[in-house]
Amino acid sequence: MNIWQKLPESFFVLAPMEGVTDHVFRRVVNIAAPADLYFSEFTNATGWVHAGEKAVAGRLTIHPDEDYPLIAQIWCSEPDDIADLAKYCKKLGYKGIDLNMGCPAKTAVKNSGGSAMIRQPELASKIIDSAKTAGLPVSVKTRLGYTSVDEWRAWISHLLSHDLAALTIHLRTKKEMSKVPAHWELAVDIKKLRDDISPDTLLVGNGDVSDHEHAEKLIAESGVDGIMIGRGIFTNVFAFDKSGVAHSQTELVDMLKIHLDLFDDANSTKPYETLKRFFKVYIRDFAGSHELRNLLMQTTTTAEAREQISEYLKS
Ligand SMILES: Cc1cc2nc3c(=O)[nH]c(=O)nc-3n(C[C@H](O)[C@H](O)[C@H](O)COP(=O)(O)O)c2cc1C
Repeated sequence: MNIWQKLPESFFVLAPMEGVTDHVFRRVVNIAAPADLYFSEFTNATGWVHAGEKAVAGRLTIHPDEDYPLIAQIWCSEPDDIADLAKYCKKLGYKGIDLNMGCPAKTAVKNSGGSAMIRQPELASKIIDSAKTAGLPVSVKTRLGYTSVDEWRAWISHLLSHDLAALTIHLRTKKEMSKVPAHWELAVDIKKLRDDISPDTLLVGNGDVSDHEHAEKLIAESGVDGIMIGRGIFTNVFAFDKSGVAHSQTELVDMLKIHLDLFDDANSTKPYETLKRFFKVYIRDFAGSHELRNLLMQTTTTAEAREQISEYLKS
C-alpha cells in the first residue's frame, strides 16, 4: 500500500506553500492540530540538477522529528530532471512525489512549468512518466484550466488517464489567480469524471477552505476524498482540529513560543526576518494584539521576541 492508500477515508492535507510550509512550520501545525498529510514547498528540479542544494535552499529538508507522511512537490519542464530529483526525494525519505501543474507565478510559467503544463498536455504526460521512474506514488496538483473554467473537463480527463495516486485541484483557473471564489460548484461533476476514468485516483479539493468543519461539509456535499487547506492556516493555526473546541489567546501565544523554539532548534540558515510573516498567525484578535505585533516586528532575534512576549504577558 502506498502512502495515499493508508490515509483515512476522508483526509485533510496541509497545502504546499512556498516560504511557509518548511519543516519548522509543518511541525508547528502538527503540534497545534495534525493534518493527515504534509507537502514540501515546491522545488524546481532543473535548478536542483544544475546547482544542487544551493538552488533548493533547504526546501526539501526533512527534520528528524517529522514522523508524519511527507510528499515532495517538484516542478520543471525537463522530464529527465524530474526523474533525477524524484529519485533524490525518495532517498531523503519522502513518501510520494507531487507534480506542480498549477502555479500561476510568472517565473514558473515563463519556464514552461507550473500552470503552463495545462497548455502542454503531451509534456505533462512525459513529466508524469518520468516522476514514476523513482518508484514512489505520483500525484498532481493543478487548476481547472489556464484561461477559462470550461477547460476543466479536457484537462482533468487527460490527467486522470495517467493512473495517478491522487489529483489535487485548486478550483480556479490560472487566469483567476485567487481573485474569485473557488468553483466548488464543479466538484460533484469532477468527482463523477474521476469515478468514470480512474476510480482509484484519490481526489483532493482545494480553495478557500477555512478549517476542519468547513472541510467536512465540502466532502459531504461533493464526495471528494480529501481536502487541502492553505491560507486557512494563517487565520487559524488549529485549522485541522477535529474537536470543534475554540482556542484561547494563551494557546495562540504558546504556539508562537513553540514556533520560535523550533526555529532555533532547526538551526536553519533562514534569516530571522523570515519568521515575521508568521507573527499575525498567533498574535491576532485580542486587545493589545496590534501593539504586541508591532513590537515583535522590531525584534531581531528569537530571544528578543520571547522577551517582548513575556513583558506583554506581565502587563
Ligand atoms: C504563500 C503561498 C505560497 C504557495 N506556494 C505554493 C507551492 O509551493 N506549491 C503549490 O502547489 N501551491 C502553492 N500555493 C497555493 C496553495 O497551495 C493553494 O493551492 C492556494 O492557496 C489555494 O488554497 P487556499 O484557499 O486553501 O489557500 C501557495 C499559496 C500561498 C498563499
